[in-house]
Amino acid sequence: MLLHPALKPGRTAVVTGAASGIGRAAARRFAELGLHVCLADLPGPALDEAAREVAAAGRGEALAVPTDVTRPDEVDRLAETAATRFGDVAILMNNAGIEAGGTFASPLETWRRILDVNLWGAIHGFQAFLPRMIEAGRPAAIVNTGSKQGITTPPGNTPYNVSKAGLKVVTEALAHELRQRPGCRVSAHLLIPGFVFTGLTRSRGVEEKPAAAWTPDETVAFMLDALARGDFYILCPDNDVARETDEKRIRWAADDIVLNRPALSRWDARYKAAFEDYMQG
Ligand code: NAI
Repeated sequence: MLLHPALKPGRTAVVTGAASGIGRAAARRFAELGLHVCLADLPGPALDEAAREVAAAGRGEALAVPTDVTRPDEVDRLAETAATRFGDVAILMNNAGIEAGGTFASPLETWRRILDVNLWGAIHGFQAFLPRMIEAGRPAAIVNTGSKQGITTPPGNTPYNVSKAGLKVVTEALAHELRQRPGCRVSAHLLIPGFVFTGLTRSRGVEEKPAAAWTPDETVAFMLDALARGDFYILCPDNDVARETDEKRIRWAADDIVLNRPALSRWDARYKAAFEDYMQG
């Protein structure tokens, strides 16, 4: 199995949102590959249980570091802990995320909470970790977990879409800046999951894995293959949505500007037939 050059036994992975879902599966997979793993999430039994599971999965150490990613001091402490305990970090996954639905009129508290976790959490992450990762001079990667909703921005989840659109923009800039830096061996990547059955799905009241959804393990396996290829955009399909469908939806969204259509025309009744024709074409 071909792997990203950072993913070597004895090196270290740090995963936020590691107590559940995609983060937990990634932490377990990194452990299986022989890496030490720092699991960061809000304090509680889920984090402790995840750390036990990850420790049992690999030969390296698994360390639970209770961390609220909205708090820069706590994320700095996470970086410090990882450095002191394990040395330089090979892979940082800024993955913690929440969802709350809502529109432009959502309470400010909702807006702030979502942006704090999904966008600021990742900013805190790369600011705390990157200087040491660059300095170490070894192959390393940062993966930020975005969303298709940050690209095609469907109505009905506005604060979440804004957070994930912001994360896409900042991750693109990060990739560019790291690429331009002489001798820098750290790369940045945007993980764009499809529909995955996780704690997030359960919080919408879905108790069993819908047929359309991938498992977190499938998502992580796809991510590792994409990282090995050096992909920046890790655009995951799911059991309902093939890559070709995503490509068309993304192109339609970009064409709203090019063709001077109304914003979010995909969901505008006047464009319903045109969109359906386009998708079938
Ligand atoms: P999940 O709910 O299973 O896992 C998210 C984890 O983030 C939880 O363990 C939660 O405690 C943690 N978290 C929340 N706030 C935190 C904070 N302030 N500090 C530290 N940890 C915090 O959900 P899932 O699906 O595994 O989410 C992982 C990422 O994937 C998120 O960024 C989400 O937006 C993204 N995503 C998920 C999709 C899906 O279909 N499940 C689709 C697209 C993106």
